[in-house]
Amino acid sequence: MQKINKAIFPVAGLGTRFLPATKAMPKEMLPVVDKPLIQYAVEEAYAAGIRQMIFVNGRNKRAIPDHFDTAFELEYELEASGKKELLDVVRSIKPSDMECIYIRQPKALGLGHAVLCAQCVVVNEPFAVLLADDLMVGKPPVLKQMVEQFNEWRASILAVQEVPPEHTKRYGIVAGTKVNDRLMDLTHIVEKPAPEDAPSNLGVAGRYILTPGVFHEIANLPRGVGGEIQLTDGIANLLRREKVFAYRYDGQRYDCGSKEGFLQANVELALEHPQLGESFRAYLKTLVL
Ligand code: G1P
Repeated sequence: MQKINKAIFPVAGLGTRFLPATKAMPKEMLPVVDKPLIQYAVEEAYAAGIRQMIFVNGRNKRAIPDHFDTAFELEYELEASGKKELLDVVRSIKPSDMECIYIRQPKALGLGHAVLCAQCVVVNEPFAVLLADDLMVGKPPVLKQMVEQFNEWRASILAVQEVPPEHTKRYGIVAGTKVNDRLMDLTHIVEKPAPEDAPSNLGVAGRYILTPGVFHEIANLPRGVGGEIQLTDGIANLLRREKVFAYRYDGQRYDCGSKEGFLQANVELALEHPQLGESFRAYLKTLVL
């Protein structure tokens, strides 16, 4: 039985919504409390049993490989000054059994194209895709829930959530037949439809488990919404040949691709933070809004 051991992290976007913060820094390095978005996503994949992390990056993204690399001078200094806890924090970013692979996406041609760039590494295995600007909090972690579903159904699994009808233009929207309270056998998926064209109000969140058949579908796609090669369109074609399931995950998604969602994630995760939580809550209570 093939295990999900590879995750693709498309990180080549320009992050224009966060300018000027993202002029020289990838948006995936924006911190929520004290950890960059990309590290939350990598930790989620690791918790799901994945050990090969494939980053599809573009120009100006050197901070990401640096983040997951050894920081010799920093580790030396922390060790010399006896800062054991901080040293552990730094070293735990990349556990020794985790492998990081970097692939360059030469042109920002869309999410489908980014995933296709990783085909040479994934080849013929089922794999996960995580969009780091969707920060997911779940117990068990959302991708782990999805891997469990994959192990049961041996088919592609997409994370979905209900979205307000007026927001369908922000998501891939799915429709299908109910299998159980959380699972749907997909019949339709469409990228960013207008509310009047949306087949439902179930939107895809940035977590996918896909079978390698999707590469062939993406490779044959014309450009879709926004002139980009869309992963959603590849999945729509895959649907004609294989079963694909939509899974209503148990957890909370923060849309950190928007300033509002990013700020919400910072406030809510700060409230949960073991060292900060209590004093931050007290501070918030002093704010008269
Ligand atoms: C992408 C996908 C979309 C999905 C969304 C989730 O869109 O194309 O289908 O619903 O991520 O965040 P983007 O947000 O990159 O425009």
